Amino acid sequence: MIVCSCNVLSDGAVRACLQDGPACPRTPAQVYACLGCSPKCGRCARTIRSIMQKALDEAGHSCSSACASSCTLVKVQTAEEGIAA
Ligand code: FES
Repeated sequence: MIVCSCNVLSDGAVRACLQDGPACPRTPAQVYACLGCSPKCGRCARTIRSIMQKALDEAGHSCSSACASSCTLVKVQTAEEGIAA
C-alpha cells in the first residue's frame, strides 16, 4: 500500500529500511532519507511514524542492553510515549 503519495513510498519500503541497530531511522525524515527522498507535503509523517511504532512492537523490544542505548527504535517508542530515553 502506498503511504506517501508524493514520493510513492509503500509501507513495505518503510518497513524494509527499519533494521536493528544504531543506523535504523528513528524519525519519518530519516526514513525519507533512507529511501533516497525527502518529505514534501508531510501528510504521510504520522502514518510512517505509526509503521515505525508497529515495527518496534513486533520486534518485542528485544534489543540487548548494549544495543538499547543507541537503538533508534527504542528512542522512537520512548518519544511517542513521552518517556525520557
Ligand atoms: S504524502 Fe508523503 S510527503 Fe506528501
